[in-house]
Amino acid sequence: MLLRTLALSALASLAAARPAARAGSPPVQLARRLNIPAGQTLPAIDRARAQALKAAAPSHGKKNGGTAVPATNTAVLYTAEVGIGEPPQTFTLIVDTGSSNTWIGANTSNPYVPTDTSVGTNDIMFIEYGSGFFIGLEYNDTVSLGGISIVNQTIGAAQWSGGFAASVDGILGLGNTILTTETLPSGQSIPTVLDNAWSQHAISEDVIGIAFAPPDSYSDTNGELTFGGVDSSKFKGDLSFVPFTTTYPAMDYVGINQSVTFGDGAHKTPLLSNVAGIVDTGTTLFLLASDAFAVYQNLTGAVIDDATGLLTVNSTDSLKSLFIDIGDTTFEFTKDAQLWPRSLNTYIGGKNESTYLIVGDAGSPSGEGLDFINGFAFLERFYFAYDKGNSQVGFATTPFTTSKAN
Ligand SMILES: *[C@@H]1O[C@H](CO)[C@@H](O)[C@H](O)[C@H]1NC(C)=O
Ligand SMILES: *[C@@H]1O[C@H](CO)[C@@H](O)[C@H](O)[C@H]1NC(C)=O
Ligand SMILES: *[C@@H]1O[C@H](CO)[C@@H](O)[C@H](O)[C@H]1NC(C)=O
Ligand SMILES: *[C@@H]1O[C@H](CO)[C@@H](O)[C@H](O)[C@H]1NC(C)=O
Ligand SMILES: *[C@@H]1O[C@H](CO)[C@@H](O)[C@H](O)[C@H]1NC(C)=O
Ligand SMILES: *[C@@H]1O[C@H](CO)[C@@H](O)[C@H](O)[C@H]1NC(C)=O
Ligand SMILES: *[C@@H]1O[C@H](CO)[C@@H](O)[C@H](O)[C@H]1NC(C)=O
Repeated sequence: MLLRTLALSALASLAAARPAARAGSPPVQLARRLNIPAGQTLPAIDRARAQALKAAAPSHGKKNGGTAVPATNTAVLYTAEVGIGEPPQTFTLIVDTGSSNTWIGANTSNPYVPTDTSVGTNDIMFIEYGSGFFIGLEYNDTVSLGGISIVNQTIGAAQWSGGFAASVDGILGLGNTILTTETLPSGQSIPTVLDNAWSQHAISEDVIGIAFAPPDSYSDTNGELTFGGVDSSKFKGDLSFVPFTTTYPAMDYVGINQSVTFGDGAHKTPLLSNVAGIVDTGTTLFLLASDAFAVYQNLTGAVIDDATGLLTVNSTDSLKSLFIDIGDTTFEFTKDAQLWPRSLNTYIGGKNESTYLIVGDAGSPSGEGLDFINGFAFLERFYFAYDKGNSQVGFATTPFTTSKAN
């Protein structure tokens, strides 16, 4: 049964009665690498994903011929090492909260080898992404990560796939279960790795905690995923929770409502007021609906740089904090947090001496139910708890929230 059919008021009181999740599994390290194919820019990749997510949301019918599940053409890949089978065969999987199937075999040199724990289901799994596809056989097998073993996990073993970075084996889909519904011929939904870990009592809370730190090199291990809880050593104070949004299409993902304001003191300009959007580990930038983006661009005096596609400024004098209201909490997204890490300028086609901004254009106007994406530029400044069990999302500040690391 899908949580989205439960009454919101019941969820809110449940959330209040059962606050922050506690310690979960030993942390799973997340490695990060940039993945920008020649001829593409980072903002264009993010925009394409945002549009694919909007079009593919299944619950109220897909729009504009949307594909079954979102694009996984991501400019920054966060990967985890996941074991499948017994003894476990190790796979490098993209950690994705914007899709929900788990599959392997994209790297044809590391094909899935069934073991004693593998049960073929005789079904074919098919997933079409905005920029790629996966077709494979469905198996049930044991999945191990972070010291947890999950049995009877339905996975796909690729026969063919396309459009994925060569350095990954597939995807660990941690998002909304509804996204799996059109990936089997039967149309049945598939419990995600998180769903099964919870139903099998392998974890004590139906929660994932994610910590990222601002990157300082092209490829590094700067993230951490906690299964079944949060890692309170990674954030300050308490997590502030907000219920999942009820607005389509954001509700089909990890969706929340938030407001975004730019400025300081008496000079604050609202960019978005209590609108729905999503939190997404597969988006690199902090994306705003086009009209809100235009106001931000105007206020900062930034122009779009042709080479990188990002906003650029000659001086950061006009940059002010963004204030992001989520539930009852206002998170300050500082001026420094709005700068692309300078040490990575040349990896995105930029110049060393230039200043680029990480606020991007989502590619469609506000008011369409998916008006922002809190991508990794946001997540590397705030701790993120995806509390699926209580249908809520939590954030907290971290030592990186106000870091001047750029
Ligand atoms: C595969 O696992 C699911 C639960 O994740 C279960 O419902 C299904 O019956 C299993 N299929 C087989 C063939 O064991
Ligand atoms: C896993 O599936 C097998 C049948 O394939 C079943 O006997 C067993 O009870 C299942 N275990 C769990 C924990 O669901
Ligand atoms: C593909 O898998 C093989 C075998 O595990 C590994 O040696 C190789 O590095 C992988 N390819 C890439 C591009 O990561
Ligand atoms: C989110 O905002 C929409 C209007 O933008 C509103 O209808 C909804 O009640 C709000 N709250 C939730 C939890 O979705
Ligand atoms: C911002 O917009 C106003 C008009 O709405 C315009 O007069 C002003 O020049 C713009 N500022 C910048 C920096 O583009
Ligand atoms: C930055 O300065 C250069 C040279 O003075 C100018 O051509 C460019 O338009 C300026 N860019 C911005 C964003 O102000
Ligand atoms: C740009 O900066 C990087 C590291 O910050 C450095 O390795 C590289 O040599 C620089 N390139 C130029 C052209 O200055």
